[in-house]
Amino acid sequence: MLILEHPGADTLALVRIFRRRGEVVPSPNIWYHPETYARENEAQDSDGAVWALLARLVSWAGADVVDVGCGDGFHLPRLAVAAKSVTGVEPHPALVRAARRRVDGHDHVTVRRGTAQRLPLPEASVDVLHARTAYFFGPGCEPGLREADRVLRPGGALVVVDLDARDEPYGEWMRADLPRYRADAVDEFFAEAGFTCHRVRTRWRFPDRAAMEAILRIEFSPRTAERAIVETLRRNRGTEGGPLDLPVGYRVLLRHAPAAPVVVSPPSARSTALSPPSRVSVADDLPGS
Ligand SMILES: C[S@@+](CC[C@H](N)C(=O)[O-])C[C@H]1O[C@@H](n2cnc3c(N)ncnc32)[C@H](O)[C@@H]1O
Repeated sequence: MLILEHPGADTLALVRIFRRRGEVVPSPNIWYHPETYARENEAQDSDGAVWALLARLVSWAGADVVDVGCGDGFHLPRLAVAAKSVTGVEPHPALVRAARRRVDGHDHVTVRRGTAQRLPLPEASVDVLHARTAYFFGPGCEPGLREADRVLRPGGALVVVDLDARDEPYGEWMRADLPRYRADAVDEFFAEAGFTCHRVRTRWRFPDRAAMEAILRIEFSPRTAERAIVETLRRNRGTEGGPLDLPVGYRVLLRHAPAAPVVVSPPSARSTALSPPSRVSVADDLPGS
């Protein structure tokens, strides 16, 4: 979710940052606090509700799977359990290295440096493209949507997992830091782009108070983080010495790549009118990969 990338910034500021830096969406939480972010990933979805929903929506078995914006590769081993191959794609060099370390020894898992807009993958080579709290945040991600259609096989799935800005209390903290964020407009954007939306409630389980405070502080502005910490403590009154729970909503967006086009008349007669739109050429790994 956008707020995760830019605690305290507003939407227009984010758009300016995005344009200035080119293709990569800054992610201060995982870029500057990788250890805390790894603990956050451990704390998230402690009952596996997102994975259960994904299992109902997408078939991973025997699939060629790509995790776009894979960060330090936290989800790659899980994706690799059923998939035929897994490719993590990540623009940030330090995270590319961390993800490669994580999957060292997994023969069918590779990590490439690249972006959602220029995937280092051939056309029609992927069955499932998974992105979790990465790049596909709403208006502005059209280049990545087109790139997904390029690399997906006909009927392949693009599945986008993100935090649900409508779900309380977490959504309220998100909106406090992004006052101009419009959940309605984002939902409309994805619906118009052909996605179905599936909402799911999860439980984040922090091992202790210190972990909870550290994690909430990398997600929110200082002011909002203090509010979130107080509220989380209030919800866990009486259990401060042990693990602390926080309900957090997610939304999972799903769309399938178009099936192969049906040819309705001889190609010679229609070759000009029906020639496919020019495709983005196969991207090499970005420098430094
Ligand atoms: C909040 S992190 C999520 C990482 C990982 N998906 C996870 O769930 O642990 C967002 C990630 O997206 C990456 N990212 C930023 N811009 C990107 C882009 N244009 N294409 C793909 N990934 C991008 C960041 O470097 C960062 O690793």
